[in-house]
Amino acid sequence: MSHSEQTRLTYANYLHLKELLKLQKPKSASEHEILFIVVHQCAELFFKCALEQSKKLLYEFDRNNVENVSTRISRLTAIVETASAIMKYQENLTPFEFAEFRPALGTASGAQSEQFKRLLADSTRYREAFVRLLQRRRLLKYIDEPEEVLNAVRRVYSEPRFSKLMKIADALYDYEEAFKDHRWQHLKVVRRVIGKAPGTGGTSGLQFLEERLASSIFEELTLVRSQIVNIRSAMNVRKRSEADEQRKTSKLKK
Ligand code: HEM
Repeated sequence: MSHSEQTRLTYANYLHLKELLKLQKPKSASEHEILFIVVHQCAELFFKCALEQSKKLLYEFDRNNVENVSTRISRLTAIVETASAIMKYQENLTPFEFAEFRPALGTASGAQSEQFKRLLADSTRYREAFVRLLQRRRLLKYIDEPEEVLNAVRRVYSEPRFSKLMKIADALYDYEEAFKDHRWQHLKVVRRVIGKAPGTGGTSGLQFLEERLASSIFEELTLVRSQIVNIRSAMNVRKRSEADEQRKTSKLKK
C-alpha cells in the first residue's frame, strides 16, 4: 500500500464496510431473516479464521514446536467459543418468527458449510498429529493401535518430564469440548425453533444433530482422566521411593 493510500485510510474503507453491509440479502419480507443471515455470515468468518489457525497448528505439529502447538490450539478454542457465543443470539428467535422466513431458505442448510466440514476434518488430523508427535518422542511404536496410544497418553500424564505434551493433550481436550459446546448450542437452537421437524438440508434434523454430537475424536483423553487417581497415587509411591533412596545414599555417605 502506498503512503498516500495509507493516509487516506479510514475505518470504513479499511474494513470494506460499503461492500460488507450490502451482503445481507433477505429472501423474505420477515424482519427476522437479517439476523439469521448475519449470525451465519459471522460464523463463516470465524470459521475462516479458525481454518487459518488450523493450518498453522498442523505446521507447528510437524515441526515439533511444542510450545507453539499449545498456543495455537488455545487460540483455535477461543475462536470456536466466539462462534458459539454468536449462536446464542438465535435463542431470541421464536418458532413463529423462524416460520416466517423458513420457506425462503429452500434446501439451503448449515450442513452444506464447506468451512465447517473442513474444520471438522482437521480435528481428526490434530489427533493424528499428536499421536505422531508421541511416536517421534518414542512413546509408542504403532499409531494405529488404540491400546498403545492410550498407554502413551497415560505416560504423558504420569511423568513430569512430559509436562509440555500434557499441556498439548489438555489443550486438545478443551478444543474438543469447545467444538462440542458449539454443536450443543446449535442443537438447542434447532430444538427450540423447529422441534423434531426435518431440516431444510433433508436430514431428520434433531436426531441427525444428536448423532453427530455423540462422536468423539480424542477418546483417549477422556479415558486417561478415568485413571488420574491411580496415576496420582503411582506418582506418589514413586516419589516416596525416590526420597527413600536419596535418604539411604546420604546416610551411606555420612
Ligand atoms: C434457527 C436457527 C437454525 C436452525 C433451525 C438450524 C437447523 C439446522 C438443521 C435442522 C440442521 C441439520 C441439517 C439439515 O437437515 O438441515 C443444521 C445443520 C447445521 N447448521 Fe443449522 N440451524 C440454525 C442455525 C444455524 C446457525 C446460526 C449456524 C451457524 C454456524 C448453523 C450451522 C449449521 C451447521 C454447521 C450444520 C451442520 C452441523 C453438523 O454437522 O453437526 N445453523 N441446522
